[in-house]
Amino acid sequence: MSQNLEKSPRGASRRSFVKRGLVAAGATTLGAGLLGKGIAFGQEEELASDASLTKGDAALLRFAAAVEILETDFWIQYNELGGIRDNEVSGGSGNPVYTSKLQKLDQDFPQYIHDNTDDEITHERFLNAYLKSKGEEPVSLEPFRVLAGSAATGSSGKPRLTNLMQLTLDTSWWTRYRSSAHNPDLEPNFKFPQAVKGLSQGEFPALPRTDADLHPSAHIQAIANTAAFHMATIEQGGSSLYPAMAQRATSVEVLRILISIGPTETMHFQTWQDKAGAAVSPPLAPLTDPTTGLFFPNLEAPPFGGELFTANLIMPEPCPFLSPSLPRCSVIRPTATKGVAMGVVNFLTSMGLFMGQSPEFFEFLKQLASEADAARREI
Ligand SMILES: [Fe+2]
Ligand SMILES: [Fe+2]
Repeated sequence: MSQNLEKSPRGASRRSFVKRGLVAAGATTLGAGLLGKGIAFGQEEELASDASLTKGDAALLRFAAAVEILETDFWIQYNELGGIRDNEVSGGSGNPVYTSKLQKLDQDFPQYIHDNTDDEITHERFLNAYLKSKGEEPVSLEPFRVLAGSAATGSSGKPRLTNLMQLTLDTSWWTRYRSSAHNPDLEPNFKFPQAVKGLSQGEFPALPRTDADLHPSAHIQAIANTAAFHMATIEQGGSSLYPAMAQRATSVEVLRILISIGPTETMHFQTWQDKAGAAVSPPLAPLTDPTTGLFFPNLEAPPFGGELFTANLIMPEPCPFLSPSLPRCSVIRPTATKGVAMGVVNFLTSMGLFMGQSPEFFEFLKQLASEADAARREI
């Protein structure tokens, strides 16, 4: 049977091949050899490693690789100025003023930036290496590394893929995860209130653009606060993307990859949500940026507070899941799979992350997304 699978035509469904193999093996072998001895699962796992990818599985992983390359790019920008530079995450020399403002949110902020960056680098490397090991084309966005990035002290000045200088952040994930009554999968048109309305209504830097941004103190603190909200906004997106894509995987191994990387994005989200909370509670909040007018409210005080806004309510509130007639459940949301990859491209585009990128960049990213969205679980 393993011989049969090695001859499996490229792109054929592994499962359908296993099925054909079982039919050929006959009922006796099936009973005695596989089910009887209980080796079916282990054998299937082993065979999965040898099989080539379906077109859909390759597309899912290629889109994930592209997203991870983009994540790596902006996390490196954060690490250059506000993280820890070492042999795991190199580049830049640190910006003491920016770093001290991040540390007002949490003393360990630079460590968390470093570790998040390290994670994204390995996600990108693993996914591309896995694609190559299966004879698939890895993803490169290098031709699009054209953006300027920060010119402030500490920046390497290298060309970038992503823009952290003009962000517009949808911070409604804050109340989406605190709501016990609504799930976007069941009510796609429900509007969850913003945590920081100002961030959703303008264009704000999450890094000092130049050393001119390092003062006055409330301005650079607002930039650090914006970074904390940006980090959580991105990572909650990753928390939805992976389970949504996993529902389209055909190979158990590709499913395993998606459901093993996905929860690390959620660990990031959870961490950053807590740091963002420090930006919207005393002693830092309320805070108005004297340069841009951006306002960070104190979400602990009226008209905020309560279940929907209180900063330390960072565990997901149980909410309706799959059907309003079933009991509420603490879950990642949304996880609906239809059009998820294109949804992520639109989400990242509308936050301004790709401001200044070429039409070719968007064309390439959208092509990867539409191929991923066309993937279907083949069973
Ligand atoms: Fe990642
Ligand atoms: Fe991430």
